[in-house]
Amino acid sequence: MRDVLEMVARVARTRSTVLIQGETGTGKELIARAIHAASSRAVRPFVPVDCSALAEGVLESELFGHVKGAFTGAVIHKRGLFETANDGTCFLDEIGEISLCVQAKLLRVLQEHEIKRVGGTDSVGVDVRVVAATNRDLGALIDGGRFREDLFYRLSVVTLQIPPLRDRREDIPLLADHFLRVYASANGRRVSDIAPEAMALMVGYDWPGNIRELEHAIERAVALTTSSVIRPEDLPPKCAGTVPTTDAPGSALSLRGVVTRHVHRVLREARWNKKLAAQLLGIHRRTLYRLTKRYGISLSERDSRG
Ligand SMILES: Nc1ncnc2c1ncn2[C@@H]1O[C@H](COP(=O)(O)OP(=O)(O)O)[C@@H](O)[C@H]1O
Ligand SMILES: [Mg+2]
Repeated sequence: MRDVLEMVARVARTRSTVLIQGETGTGKELIARAIHAASSRAVRPFVPVDCSALAEGVLESELFGHVKGAFTGAVIHKRGLFETANDGTCFLDEIGEISLCVQAKLLRVLQEHEIKRVGGTDSVGVDVRVVAATNRDLGALIDGGRFREDLFYRLSVVTLQIPPLRDRREDIPLLADHFLRVYASANGRRVSDIAPEAMALMVGYDWPGNIRELEHAIERAVALTTSSVIRPEDLPPKCAGTVPTTDAPGSALSLRGVVTRHVHRVLREARWNKKLAAQLLGIHRRTLYRLTKRYGISLSERDSRG
């Protein structure tokens, strides 16, 4: 993720087309917005388009606009989103879903920097930075004849691969804590902490819906909890069910095992700096002490040997 953010800063300065690949909910749109915000185009529009939400004909006239009388119902001239995004950034989400016909027109925008409105004859020059995203394997779509290879090369001048949340579990406590503060404050609820057991369950869960699923889980927990601390029973059953709640000693999946391994790993990563480790875990330093005492986790490198 650090590599991705470094790339964001670097590509923001250019006008290269960027292709963001990653599972749903990994933060592709957020990254696209970050690229725009860090670019010289930041004061100009950021125009997101969900290509999977619109039927082919609708997508085409949304993107490129249409002239009056272009088709039944086209009673006025309509500017397309590429014109709206002029001098700014157009974010084409779910690019793998667009038809071959719209792909050809998109290629033209990228190559010639001009568009033709549906039903129109004139070309209109546009200066738009395109950031595209997909959760599909475009290589496979190309092999299947569903995606143009030349468009793929145009789009993927720079490619950012966003890792799924289960491959960066150390981010889970940070994100959970972030969403806790966001939703507690948005709902005026005094929920201030996540119980270590609940955190351990979240760190152990695979999050197929990635950050979006985690966000919803925390929002739900903040709404449901009757205390100031989020407990395992406040989490969605799918997430709370990943680890047996009974503490079977020695079992690799026991709560004790998950907490111990995770806390120990973070302490080691923080080079045994308790303040930093607590920050990384998204818990108070007090909670860290309580946890290490309860599970017999050593707080220094020397004690942890042997
Ligand atoms: N690094 C992050 N920090 C905080 N929130 C994030 C982060 N990445 C994603 N989100 C949030 O997760 C949700 C899903 O992100 P989104 O960019 O829509 O994912 P995608 O486009 O890959 O499906 C959004 O609500 C977004 O604000
Ligand atoms: Mg999205």
